[in-house]
Amino acid sequence: MSHPYYGLNELREMFLSFFETKDHLRLPSFSLVPQNDNSILLINAGMTPMKPWFKGEEEPPRRRVCTCQKCIRTGDIENVGKTARHGTYFEMLGNFSFGDYFKHEAIAWSWEFLTSPEYLGLDKDKLAFTVFEGEGDIPRDDEAAGYWMENGVKKENIYFLPREHNWWGPAGQTGPCGPDTEMFIITKKPCGPNCSPACHCGAYLEIWNDVFMQYNKQKDGTFIPLKQKNIDTGMGLERTICVLTGKKTVYETDAFTDILAKIAELSGKEYGADEETTKAFRIIADHMRTSTFILGDDRGVSPSNTDQGYILRRLIRRAVRYGMQLGMPDGFTCEIAKVIINQYKNAYPELERNAAFVIDQLTLEEGRFARTLKQGNKEFDKVASRAADGKIDGETAFHLYDTYGFPIEMTVELAKERNLTVDTVGFEEAFRKHQELSH
Ligand code: ALA
Repeated sequence: MSHPYYGLNELREMFLSFFETKDHLRLPSFSLVPQNDNSILLINAGMTPMKPWFKGEEEPPRRRVCTCQKCIRTGDIENVGKTARHGTYFEMLGNFSFGDYFKHEAIAWSWEFLTSPEYLGLDKDKLAFTVFEGEGDIPRDDEAAGYWMENGVKKENIYFLPREHNWWGPAGQTGPCGPDTEMFIITKKPCGPNCSPACHCGAYLEIWNDVFMQYNKQKDGTFIPLKQKNIDTGMGLERTICVLTGKKTVYETDAFTDILAKIAELSGKEYGADEETTKAFRIIADHMRTSTFILGDDRGVSPSNTDQGYILRRLIRRAVRYGMQLGMPDGFTCEIAKVIINQYKNAYPELERNAAFVIDQLTLEEGRFARTLKQGNKEFDKVASRAADGKIDGETAFHLYDTYGFPIEMTVELAKERNLTVDTVGFEEAFRKHQELSH
């Protein structure tokens, strides 16, 4: 299924220009650091910076907007490197309506973009769709299913699924959300008669999600209708390229070609040589890309022990740890960041504007961590060998954090590699005690 247009820059441009022909205003990506929104630390979807427009609290520059948004999701950071599609940074393509068009147009345009030979040109019979099956007062979405069928989708390629599959949001504890319809490419024969897009066999791969943003979730868990009906869609850029080009993982797409080549050059190792090496390459590539985007943002943050700064610190330190495993030279984080800045500077000019900050901060953080890491590793070996009942206690985990700069998640990960556990509750207590003492 390869196609000349399925590169990172080409798909991004193809999507945004398509929606411009539908009268959407193309906006640049918003900052990764949310403004006036305490419900999340980093932007995790195209819609998150636009919440006031969805709620009708502020007037958008136009009622139809399209973006390619920088997004970060670090919830499952431990899976990065292990599985095919886990990454902490990704670009999300989206078209949005703020009280303007709704289901009918959203579905018609998704269909056109997916199937028209001028755009993705996908085979109609290789596509499947899911819609919300309804719950409580919210009815089954026969309307959305009807619009798909209006375009020629066969009934058997439409699946009604419950809330866990066909409801999106809010992005945080409260806020805009609604039922959605998701679009899948059928990549191989379904695994059995009950196989559906909800199955994990890999036959159905999701590429796009149209959310019908109609509700506002309240603190008490209830949903009240928003003032206006909105559309919020999300297509993961790297993931879609991966599916369309039939690559096994996002690391094999052009999003990572130059970065992996640089890691190979610096380490003298080969991507794919063995499982451990592959995992290290992926972790370094993913975490360095995410860190470079956080540092290179116009509201860039520095590594620290709180909030966004702590996420950044964890990412850089994890990359450094795996870099040492590969035998990377000192200063390697900057060398990789330069490749990333170069690759992305046209689409995200802020990276070049903030390049000096990116390099300074990486130099400092890599240096700080590398100095203590060798000693810390020795200390960890001692700790591990005397861990009683296979468990590292909270005070010890805190000591590793406080003296050697080991983020708790790293101690947990190192412990796991040796079949040990860590008393993370005890760690939190030791952490609090220390904070009280030092105030
Ligand atoms: N906000 C929706 C998502 O992230 C489109 O999937």
